[in-house]
This record gives sequence, structure tokens and C-alpha cells, in this order.
Amino acid sequence: MTQFTAVSDITDPIKLADEALAIKAYPHAQGQLGQNKTMVLLFFNPSLRTRLSTQKAGINLGMSVISMNAAQGWQLEFEDRIIMNTDKAEHIREAAAVVSQYADIIGIRTFPSLTDKEKDYSDFILKRFIEFASVPVISLESAIRHPLQSLADLVTIKEQTAKARPKVVLSWAPHPRALPQAVSNSFIEWMQAADMDLVITHPEGYELEGSFVKDTPVIYDQSKAFEGADFIYTKNWSSYQQYGQILNQDANWTITPEKMALTNNGKFMHCLPVRRNVVVADGVLDGPNSLVIEQANNRTFAAQAVIARMLRHQ
Ligand code: CP
Repeated sequence: MTQFTAVSDITDPIKLADEALAIKAYPHAQGQLGQNKTMVLLFFNPSLRTRLSTQKAGINLGMSVISMNAAQGWQLEFEDRIIMNTDKAEHIREAAAVVSQYADIIGIRTFPSLTDKEKDYSDFILKRFIEFASVPVISLESAIRHPLQSLADLVTIKEQTAKARPKVVLSWAPHPRALPQAVSNSFIEWMQAADMDLVITHPEGYELEGSFVKDTPVIYDQSKAFEGADFIYTKNWSSYQQYGQILNQDANWTITPEKMALTNNGKFMHCLPVRRNVVVADGVLDGPNSLVIEQANNRTFAAQAVIARMLRHQ
């Protein structure tokens, strides 16, 4: 595996999730695999879970891990054929090539602008890095996808149910800030690839990009969508059509114990961070069916499964 940016970079999401679960049982069993290898993690945006879990995954595999806040004091130019007489001091062509001299694997986090839909959805920054890096690249969340999160979510669902095809509902919920669509896009494509019984629910106007949704049912009535659900995966996203806009902050979409009572004793999932009593009520988040901490725990083993595959093929 030379890149991990989307579910399409692998052929076997269920097998990869099983590998992560095997690693969870014995996290230090492959402590020699990454000996004398270095992973460099570049964060153009903040992170708690992705940063620490990916770093821990590398350490569990015996790697050295260097993590860098790449946004401050290091303005990169991504465009070609440009006169570099502004504040951008270094071009992506040199930067990606130079980081590749120090790293056996590079991880990159880069959020969308939420102002330029075409550029964001081309995944411009991640793709430019991959173009000029000479070592494998892992997305730590790009403008449009968050594959390590989605793999951890699949791992969590698999370990929580014996059903081959549980009903999984992706529900929009309100939020005071405009957030990317990346987690939701990515969750949809991983659930589709794993053949889960996926349903999407959101207010009208929050339709996600069609190439992600494909033929997944979209139900605008949240209560109806929740009926019989085994898992409620909640995430806010800003509008895709009216790109980056907040159209609705309707508190009726908050996940409450009453809404969860419509499900099949469903489990609550969220990638975190989450706004209490805006996205989800305390009674759900702190309740016995909340999986959010286990999801965060599984981030380590998901990352470790991906990094282990990359190391085995170097
Ligand atoms: N879920 C997630 O990616 O969290 P961080 O933004 O803290 O990495």
C-alpha cells in the first residue's frame, strides 16, 4: 500500500478491520516491524485523537515518530508556474521531497477551505503532497475524507455486533460552526464498502455530494430513520450545495434519549470532539450505549493496521 487516503486504496475493508481487531488483542506483537523506520506527521490543522493515536500506533510498531504543526510559520505554495513573491516561502515540490528524505511514511492533515468547493473536492493539498513525496502517504483527514476515522468506526461496529449487516444511521445534528463534510463522506463510503445497511438522515439542504451518497437511502424524517437502528452515527456538516454555509441550527435534530428510544437498543457513535447538548444530550453521551470512547480507543489499532501494511510492503 503506497497511500491510504480513501477506502478505494484497499480492496478488503472487512479484512483490514479484522487485522485491527487482531492488533487490539496484542498491540505490541509487531514491535519489530517498524524498527529503524521513521514516520513524520504533518498537521496543517489541530488534532487530539488523530495525532496521539497515529503516534501511538507508530510507537507500538517500533517506529520513531516526528509530529509537526505545519500551519504556523511555514507557508507553502501549492500552485505551479507562479512567481513566489508573497508570504509563501516554500513550494510543495521541494517541501514534500524534503520531508520524504526524513520519513519512511508521511501522514498529513489538511482541512478544506469551505469557500472553494471545486478545489476542496479535488483534494488539492493532499494530492499535491502525494505527487511530490517519494514515500507512502497516509491521510490524517483531508478536505473531503477521514479514512483512519472511518476504519476505526468500522472496527467499532464489527466488535459491537454479531450481525453481518446491522442497520447504521448517519444522522446530521446541529452545530454552531461550519464544519467539513469529510467525516460523513468517508463514513458513507466505508459503510457502503463493508455492505452495511446504511441510511442517511439530515434536514433538506444538507444533501452530501452525490458520488459519495450513491444509492444510499436518504430520509428527511430523523425519527423515521432511527426506527430499528442498531447504530446511530452522528455528525454535523455544513451545506455542500450552498458550500460551507450553516442553513439550520434546529435543536430538534439534537440526539436525545427519546430519539435513541426509537432504535433497536441502538449504540451511539461520534468521532469527537462533540458539543454536549447541541449535537447530543448528556443522557445519550454518558449513557451505557455510547461508544465514543471506544471509537477513540480503536483509532490506535486502525492506524496500526494501516501502518503495518505499509511497512510490510516497503
Ligand atoms: N476524530 C478526530 O479526528 O479527532 P481529532 O480532530 O482530535 O484528531
